[in-house]
Amino acid sequence: PPSALTDRYGRVVRDLRLSITDRCNLRCSYCMPAQGLDWLATPLLLTADEIGRLARIAVTRLGVERIRITGGEPLMRRDLEEIISAIAALRTPGGAVPDIGLTTNGLGLDKRAAALRDAGLARVNVSIDALDREAYAGLTRRDRLDDALAGATAAQAAGLEPIKVNAVALPGTLDAQAPRLLAECLRRGWQLRFIEHMPLGPRESWRAEDVVGAERILAALAGAGFALEEAGRPDRRPAALWRVAAGEHDGAAHPAGSVGIIASVTAPFCADCDRARITADGRLMTCLFSSTETDLRAPLRQGATDEDIMRLWAAAAWRKPLAHGSDDPGALPSGFERPGRTMSAIGG
Ligand code: GTP
Ligand code: 5AD
Ligand code: SF4
Repeated sequence: PPSALTDRYGRVVRDLRLSITDRCNLRCSYCMPAQGLDWLATPLLLTADEIGRLARIAVTRLGVERIRITGGEPLMRRDLEEIISAIAALRTPGGAVPDIGLTTNGLGLDKRAAALRDAGLARVNVSIDALDREAYAGLTRRDRLDDALAGATAAQAAGLEPIKVNAVALPGTLDAQAPRLLAECLRRGWQLRFIEHMPLGPRESWRAEDVVGAERILAALAGAGFALEEAGRPDRRPAALWRVAAGEHDGAAHPAGSVGIIASVTAPFCADCDRARITADGRLMTCLFSSTETDLRAPLRQGATDEDIMRLWAAAAWRKPLAHGSDDPGALPSGFERPGRTMSAIGG
């Protein structure tokens, strides 16, 4: 059987994103319709044991070094701690502990941060799109800003660092929220990343002409008085970084630090992407925008051996598309194949 997940373009998978539920307790407008979605029925979800088995195959036999748990909202599953401890017990062939991260909206994280750390979680990325209570409630359709902040604060206190804060850049809130978010994150020692809006939510929620690109984000920050210096994008990481000098915003001082921009729309990182994803119902997706999915749940439940799963996985990995779900080099940067599901069902 294969010992690594490589594709036709020479990329190698090292980073696995496991979505463990499609449910969420927020309704971010760029992600979901107000009424929510038709959630997957529980028997269709991978169990903690099935997730653990796929993670074991990935880490011990297929070269995966980093695992990120996503959703929906992964804290909606009560067995999250159990899933994390199973992954934390794995070792790569070189003897390393896999790097385990969690991407969450932070609601309820205050109560579970210490237990998650004890289970083996290393760090968290928390989505906070605005620091103004009304703006946050408007975007997420729930008045839960304080819970999200409490979650990130507790994660930091538990040592789940670095804390990264994700904010999708949207035209209506950028100028008012971006500077405030940056000043606050610098003060708290959180690493803020702005994310360009991708066409992964409800169809009507995305228009190419509304995408707030990296240039506009930087202009909004510079316009608010931040001194920024380009620091480049680390290989295989989505966020390009800028150093921020110490200064003052809105009458309050902030220390130096950095800010990231995930420019998936205007400057995609597909060429050195090392990611694979598994959906909550056990479908392997080689790209966030992939229109083909490979069912791993059926073979898992029909008695497949580890070697069977490895061969299936490697064959699917080989066909990973060039960029944004397509093999047409002309499709970049603005062309997008929309995947068959929305973000919450794929896991960001
Ligand atoms: P780190 O390991 O901390 O760098 O995590 P991350 O930034 O990869 O993960 P996170 O879940 O916080 O994702 C942040 C943003 O990057 C989200 O909007 C994701 O949708 C986006 N992102 C993550 N993976 C991919 C990908 O494979 N392709 C694209 N286009 N965007 C991605
Ligand atoms: N475009 C860009 N980012 C998105 N996220 C959710 N939907 C989209 C979208 N359409 C972000 C969330 C979270 C991360 C996993 O993905 O805000 O921070
Ligand atoms: Fe929930 Fe995340 Fe989607 Fe917001 S972006 S509705 S927090 S899954």
